[in-house]
Amino acid sequence: MELHDSPDGHPGAPGGVTSPCAMVMFGAGGDLTKRKLMPAIYNLAQTHMLPLQFAIVGVSIEPYSEDEFRDRMTSDIREYSVDGVDMSVWNQFVNRLYYVSGDFQDPALYKKLGETLARVEKEQGTSGNILFYLATSPVFFPIVVKQLGAAGLARQEGRKWKRVVIEKPFGHDLASAVELNRAVGEVLEEKQVYRIDHYLGKETVQNILAFRFANGIFEPIWNRRYVDHVQVTVAEELGVELRGGYYETAGALRDMVPNHILQLITLCAMEPPISFEADSVHDEQIKILRAIQPMSPERVLDQAVRGQYAEGLIGGAHVPAYRSEPHVAPDSQTPTFVAAALHIDNWRWADVPFYLRTGKRMAERLTQIVIRFRRPPFVLFRKTLVEKLPPNELVINIQPKEGISLRFEAKIPGPIVRLGAVNMDFQYSDYFGTTPSTGYETLLYDCMMGDPTLFQRADMVEAGWTVVQPILDVWKALPPRDFPNYAAGTWGPSQADELLRREGREWRNPEPAQGRRSDPSAVRSAPSAAPVRKP
Ligand code: BG6
Repeated sequence: MELHDSPDGHPGAPGGVTSPCAMVMFGAGGDLTKRKLMPAIYNLAQTHMLPLQFAIVGVSIEPYSEDEFRDRMTSDIREYSVDGVDMSVWNQFVNRLYYVSGDFQDPALYKKLGETLARVEKEQGTSGNILFYLATSPVFFPIVVKQLGAAGLARQEGRKWKRVVIEKPFGHDLASAVELNRAVGEVLEEKQVYRIDHYLGKETVQNILAFRFANGIFEPIWNRRYVDHVQVTVAEELGVELRGGYYETAGALRDMVPNHILQLITLCAMEPPISFEADSVHDEQIKILRAIQPMSPERVLDQAVRGQYAEGLIGGAHVPAYRSEPHVAPDSQTPTFVAAALHIDNWRWADVPFYLRTGKRMAERLTQIVIRFRRPPFVLFRKTLVEKLPPNELVINIQPKEGISLRFEAKIPGPIVRLGAVNMDFQYSDYFGTTPSTGYETLLYDCMMGDPTLFQRADMVEAGWTVVQPILDVWKALPPRDFPNYAAGTWGPSQADELLRREGREWRNPEPAQGRRSDPSAVRSAPSAAPVRKP
């Protein structure tokens, strides 16, 4: 995250440009490469963050020639680069694309790859630094790593670094995550491994740390004395689209919670690290993961909710039920929604519930963290019951609109004292404009700079699975009887509302658009207070 020499001892280049390197993309024929990785690399090139001594070697099973691969990448970048392509930038780049085809299990592929990398180093001056990116199905992670080791391609010599990026999922439960870490650890040092969680590439997610630790006014109230509870919502309007095959084996809990949602919770809940060096930040995050109260089977039944979407309306259009999606079993038991209450056993957060919920085909695309503060101890405005005053609320909006807002009470103008809730809003785009971003730019840049702060350490992955394993176990033992239990286009099953209601709380849902169901917790219509003067 910071510009500094890399913690693994291999320096990044000065001036913000990464050090020379070759990036090897396993799975170069796949979706991730064309939708995210190539556009992100292009954005880095366009903003002059990549050195001239940079090259990409695509690896996949398809038998393309190098020219065919280049043509294909050129048509893909035209299609997937969000803000168009400056062909003068791309054309400089295209002759730095190489391609090797073969079977990931075949040692001959790695021999060919080694020869190509030697050629790349000579032609492009990549200095022997190599970033291997495993954009493949997870079954290949241990296979590719083992073969890289056997072919000697992951060996670091002198100042030549070798790093391996692994996409999620890191295992499908605790035991498989431990096994994957073991297999990877047989070949690579932990400092060579970059386990990517694309949520950490989102600006507002990184901003949680800046917000908390670069300002003096929030930290003193960031604790059980002032905070009533925290809500984390990651809602998607999309269904599973064409990923039914994968999703049937994963479901909402595995897909979103041990990774993205627990990352958000740890960043919100952790103690200030002693520095922003990767290990200092990770040490604080893992303390939170380990402090999350393990759930007994009874607690799982009481405090975790699962759901699956039925058909419904999204934006006025009819969408099918999960069970009618391609590659999904007609009697599927896979959850597409999960909600739960977690408790963090430490001095700062004792008795402050952290509620999480995530789901597909929900009413709106929305990722937000809500810090709801305690009410004032009593109310001076005698005609207003204290229970009627909405509590102060800090909302960190991660997507689709990135920003932070604070809700507080103000007097409504007029001779009678009446109170209304107002918002003080900060929108990223108002202050900083928008830059084309896939969310992968920062993460790729950090890998090349050797900064693992925004990546998951092996022990964090295992600690994340430890939190969700009891839920997986109970849900496996007791298959759901009421699926599908929420209509597409809503905020999930009623049990998720009940989870908070019985504790006297409610989810913060955005104001419903016309035609959507009404929402009692939405902020009362009130103008935003004037924003602070722009810098
Ligand atoms: C991925 C999940 O990790 O995150 C997907 O596998 C999900 O199922 C996606 O749709 C959500 O990411 P974002 O950035 O669109 O919120």
